[in-house]
Amino acid sequence: MAKLGLEKHIVDAEVYARTVARLKEAGVRMPTFAELAEPRRIPAEIIEALAGVDHLAPHPLNLYRVHWYNSEDGQGLTEVPRALELPKSLTGVDARIVVMLGDSFPMIHAHKVLAAYACLVPRLVTGQFDPTKDKAIWPSTGNYCRGGVAISRILDCHGVGILPEGMSEERFAWLRDWVLDMDTDIIATPGSESNVKEIYDKCNELDRDPINVIFNQFSEYGNHLAHYLCTGKALAHVYESLKVNTPTLRLRAYISATGSAGTIAAGDYLKDEYGCGTVALEAVECPTLLYNGFGEHNIQGIGDKHLPLIHNMMQTDAVAGISDLDTDTLFVLFNTEVGQAYLKDRRGVPSEIIDQLKHLGFSGIANILGAIKAAKYHQMGGDDLILTIATDGAEMYGTELRKALEKYWGGAFDQITAAEVFGRSVLGETIDHFMELTEQDKRRMFNLGYFTWVEQQGIDLKDFEARRHQAYWRSLRGHLAAWDEMIIAFNAESAK
Ligand SMILES: Cc1ncc(COP(=O)(O)O)c(C=O)c1O
Repeated sequence: MAKLGLEKHIVDAEVYARTVARLKEAGVRMPTFAELAEPRRIPAEIIEALAGVDHLAPHPLNLYRVHWYNSEDGQGLTEVPRALELPKSLTGVDARIVVMLGDSFPMIHAHKVLAAYACLVPRLVTGQFDPTKDKAIWPSTGNYCRGGVAISRILDCHGVGILPEGMSEERFAWLRDWVLDMDTDIIATPGSESNVKEIYDKCNELDRDPINVIFNQFSEYGNHLAHYLCTGKALAHVYESLKVNTPTLRLRAYISATGSAGTIAAGDYLKDEYGCGTVALEAVECPTLLYNGFGEHNIQGIGDKHLPLIHNMMQTDAVAGISDLDTDTLFVLFNTEVGQAYLKDRRGVPSEIIDQLKHLGFSGIANILGAIKAAKYHQMGGDDLILTIATDGAEMYGTELRKALEKYWGGAFDQITAAEVFGRSVLGETIDHFMELTEQDKRRMFNLGYFTWVEQQGIDLKDFEARRHQAYWRSLRGHLAAWDEMIIAFNAESAK
């Protein structure tokens, strides 16, 4: 179980004592998961002090910004999580599609700092990570390792990012600014988005040295649990706030592109609360769930070719496959003057919506297309709501915009190409590659995980099998309250 990050008691008292002393010296106090789920619980003096702290700085108080309630500039708090409702002029469907925006999370402009926090902190408060000598290894396709490096640095731990060499240059540039040692703390593995196996191989190699502690987001249940509570509650809040003006509004589906399958855990919360359906999304160029397929794609952040251990597959109701041709080209449409002029002048998309499109990274656009597919497949109407999220915004993909312009149009993008993109990728979005899952489909997809987790990664068959049953997932949820108590006790110790 220790391997899965599921301890609820102090495992090593000496390590614990050293960690308390270290964080005391660094002046760090850690938020509870309950505070991150509902920031109104954060003490007023912390909120006041935060006003003077740059949300992008490695400052301990920024841990209290690892939630969905940051204002657009990242500095203030919002009443309801930031979300963008897309009009029919942009989606072509009657169903209401609302995207919760992740780019005002602190330090990295993406919600993956939440996953990183949720993986490291349970280890710290249980004495399983020794900041005086261990290294925190953060394998990912880009955002989680940045989150991990940021959270490690604030918590005075030594963080190392591992990511494929083909990820966007912006991610590497960010890492170079944040790691303690540029030569050793950024490890680039072969390949790009879908080369998760190569990342694992590197982790297995590093794992032989006991000072390296691998925070594998694909199997750390802290990742699942933080999203269940924090992202789940935030989405529920968005829904409740919309219902004030539209009491008949029904939450029909939650769409989440899966990388580590952390974010999709919010679907379990929404299912518990509202009976909402959960749709997992993947790149059609690498259709692991849909077709046991493989391949390369550019929807950065949704690494695949395997089923993460923390994916509650038996609770997933449908799978949608989206092409990176659509996400690449819509990204250009949304982020160029020509594209925006087309949307405004020819499609009648309001300017205030166009101004917000910069908050959608590739996977956010994929999620929106998945929502359009779901709306079409289920023939949803104006009282049906689909919720989804944008993990990050456009700022991490400036170089990708130039690459896409070159790749698809030799650098020239005009009103005609803009119209082609919108016609093909939005209006022409079909219900192809949308699979509503039967019990047998779910079982088949669940079983796919066996090869990665039991055969290759050494997970006990019993722990693997337990995940078929919802009682198992329900039993995990008690960890959050237990960890919160340990965080409170840890803070009290380190404040002495
Ligand atoms: C941009 C982006 N989108 C989507 C995801 C997938 O989120 P999750 O890992 O929670 O499934 C990630 C994960 O790193 C990401 O970086």
